[in-house]
Amino acid sequence: RRLENALTIEHLRRAARRTTPRSVFDYVDGAAEEEITAARNIAAYRRVTLRPDALHPVAEPELGVDLFGKRIAMPLVFAPTGYTRMMHHHGEAAVARVAEHFGVPYSLSTVGTTSIEDVRAAAPGGDLWFQLYRTNDPATNELLVSRAEAAGYSTMLLTVDTSVAGKRLKDVVNGLTIPPTLTARTILNISMFPAWWYNKLTTPGIGFASLSGVEGNLSSEDVARTLFDPGLDFAALEWLRERWPGKLLVKGITTPESAREVVRRGADGVVVSNHGGRQLDRSAATLDVLPAVRAAVGAEATVIIDGGIRHGQDIVAARALGADAAMVGRAYLYGIMAGGQDGAVRAYEILADEYQRCMQLLGVRRSEDLGERHVALPRAWSA
Ligand code: FNR
Repeated sequence: RRLENALTIEHLRRAARRTTPRSVFDYVDGAAEEEITAARNIAAYRRVTLRPDALHPVAEPELGVDLFGKRIAMPLVFAPTGYTRMMHHHGEAAVARVAEHFGVPYSLSTVGTTSIEDVRAAAPGGDLWFQLYRTNDPATNELLVSRAEAAGYSTMLLTVDTSVAGKRLKDVVNGLTIPPTLTARTILNISMFPAWWYNKLTTPGIGFASLSGVEGNLSSEDVARTLFDPGLDFAALEWLRERWPGKLLVKGITTPESAREVVRRGADGVVVSNHGGRQLDRSAATLDVLPAVRAAVGAEATVIIDGGIRHGQDIVAARALGADAAMVGRAYLYGIMAGGQDGAVRAYEILADEYQRCMQLLGVRRSEDLGERHVALPRAWSA
């Protein structure tokens, strides 16, 4: 019932707030510092004006697009998010299953709580991507990459906006630990969210399962210290380009200069992303810089955008302004917090339904036909 009543991603967000302990909800919903960039991401989409082609009837729009030579059901990719089993015990496996079911890619985070192999087992035919936090331990990097390769992941995302951990004030105030620990405060919290705590206490602990198999398994402090590598540089990109035979995207680009540079050095494209406003606050709204990034890398490179996508019409705008596809993080996390796997299904259905109706009302027959003429922007945008 909770899910049936959710007509929008915002409804799923409100349901998530009711079902999930405050510190976990805030970890997902919150962002860095003053949360200026997180708010900008969302605001940018709301400034876009849509321009329909009148008298262009569209009975059944073709939503699918080609991405890296594969047809995907719509220009949507599930973004990598860490610790998904903390949000809901169904975790990464459930989200990967939903992505496979609908025919869009799923990205597993280095700090996922389900192993590379278990996610593959959950979605045997799915298009799986792996997000790498290049660690400062070469053996760990090699192990992660070779396991993703062996498990048939198609695409590697190298995240480059996390040289140090962003400061998310809500997490500090809430005293969030990963995994959540039993303190006087959390015991009080149990009575408010009994189902969440029951599931947490009766399912395997939240470890860094993507990393399991790494010698001695890393503690959460070790992970923070080794994963957020202040030394990340172009040599890391060059190593990965040599090592990884599949497609390679650099995630965390917000300027045309950086986009051009990483493509010049061998990346197949970029994810225009500010990590959902969770890292460098006051960086640009991703939609604002999208046209300039596309112009900088040319038509051949792949450009994906994320940050602030909460509506199918946002995906229309992203496509019209030059993105091959849009990634969503919180949109599906709100779903999974609200109702586990069914909630992730609901999140996809909401976005797909909104996207399809928008295409019909715009009079656009195929996702590939969306272009700049379908949107008007309030003023000259620059990066
Ligand atoms: C993230 N994101 C992220 N990115 C990444 O490269 N590795 C990671 O482990 C995580 N973890 C993570 C956890 C949570 C709770 C969130 C909300 C986000 C960033 C993610 O991939 C994506 O860039 C943003 O979520 C996009 O913004 P929206 O869609 O959440 O607004």
